[in-house]
Amino acid sequence: MKIGIGNDHVAVELKGIIKKHLEELGHEVVDFGTNSTERFDYPVSGFAVGKAVAAGDVDLGVLICGTGVGISLAANKVHGVRACVCSDPYTAKLSREHNDTNIIAFGARVVGSELAMMIVDEWLAASFEGGRHAKRIAMLAEIEETQELRA
Ligand code: RB5
Repeated sequence: MKIGIGNDHVAVELKGIIKKHLEELGHEVVDFGTNSTERFDYPVSGFAVGKAVAAGDVDLGVLICGTGVGISLAANKVHGVRACVCSDPYTAKLSREHNDTNIIAFGARVVGSELAMMIVDEWLAASFEGGRHAKRIAMLAEIEETQELRA
C-alpha cells in the first residue's frame, strides 16, 4: 500500500518510528514532512496529505502532531477526506470498518510509540464494512458538497 505521512515539529521522532514500521511491513511511504524540529505549522502537512489522499496519489494517510487534533482538522478541510484522531486501537479499527476513514491521526504528546504502532496496525488491518454504513458515508459527503442534508 502507498501511505502518505505528515507531521509537525512536535512529532518528528514518532513519525520516523511509524515510517520505519510501515516500511518494514512492506508499505511504500511518502513523507510530506516536516523532518525538522523547528516550529512548523501543522496545516501545511495536514493539507498536503489530505490532498494526496483525496487525489488518489496515496492510498491512505497517517498524520501526527502534538495531539493529532490540529493536523486532522487541516486534512478534513479537503473534500473526500475522512480523518480521525485515534488514541486507541479499538477506535482505529472501528473508524475504518464503520466510518471508512482514509486518514488516521494521533498525538505524539498523547500516545507512546508502541501504542501508536498498534493503532496503525489495527487501522490498516481493518476494512470498510459497507452496508448500513455506506449510507452514512454518503450523508457525510452530501453535507460536505452541499452544506445541506436531506431528511
Ligand atoms: C504544537 O504546539 C501543537 O499545537 C500541535 O502539535 C498540535 O497539538 C495541534 O493540534
